[in-house]
Amino acid sequence: MHPMLHTAVRSVREGGRVILMYFSQLDRLEYSSKGRNDFVSQADIEAERAVLDVLTHAYPEHGVLAEESGLQEGSEYTWVIDPLDGTTNFLHGFPMFAVSVAAMRNGIIEHGVVYDPLRDEMFTASRGEGAQLNGKRLRVSSTRQLTPALLGTGFPSRDLSIMEPWMRSFQSLVPKTAGIRRAGAAALDLAYVAAGRLDGFWEFGLKPWDVAAGALLIREAGGLISDVSGEQGFIESGNLVAATPHIFEDFRKIVARSGL
Ligand code: IPD
Ligand code: CA
Ligand code: CA
Repeated sequence: MHPMLHTAVRSVREGGRVILMYFSQLDRLEYSSKGRNDFVSQADIEAERAVLDVLTHAYPEHGVLAEESGLQEGSEYTWVIDPLDGTTNFLHGFPMFAVSVAAMRNGIIEHGVVYDPLRDEMFTASRGEGAQLNGKRLRVSSTRQLTPALLGTGFPSRDLSIMEPWMRSFQSLVPKTAGIRRAGAAALDLAYVAAGRLDGFWEFGLKPWDVAAGALLIREAGGLISDVSGEQGFIESGNLVAATPHIFEDFRKIVARSGL
């Protein structure tokens, strides 16, 4: 394992420990709202601190883009961190949330880790080295058509201006697929595409920390990911389509027709 990936794994384990500690005493947890449907709790803040402690100790010269503490410029590497993806689930005791950490170098995602602390599932990838779940090689599903496909998505619950196009994409995809799930943790949804548990995923309005690690997992597991027009600007735009290769183009074209 590359030393940076190894450090990322250590950092998400620390973040996961904090999250599980708070998950066991949710009734005592305090949280506040950053905006519409956007909550932050002590668990998010302390998990981020735990992740950052490991990363900045190992790589003090690197930059950081972390959801709760923002951007800190550094050398050519930037760590992109979501300390708790799925905060709304977490606050309700709904067991779908994760820690996501990626290392980007000059805009290229080099390493990515998504960790589900409840199931102790560690999804890891380094560029060109494949993707693993707890050390075992991952492949996207072998699904060849949309009809039997299980897709994931996320609702545009904060930026309501993207609601209409999302509704159109949802309406088109429901009758063409086997099912659609909204699990509530985008980083984990992407990891599930990499693991073949979902055949594809789309969402609009995501942030770099939701997406960076999961995107690398999907690519390294043999899947495809792009923005709705098939370009690679999804980290900036936050609008993305990801899937196993055989269904990707049909799926992407349907999402593109939503008029986003
Ligand atoms: C959210 C989750 C959710 C997605 C939202 C994200 P957070 O992240 O990934 O599934 O639909 O767009 O913001 O706020 O829980 O870290
Ligand atoms: Ca998130
Ligand atoms: Ca978060």
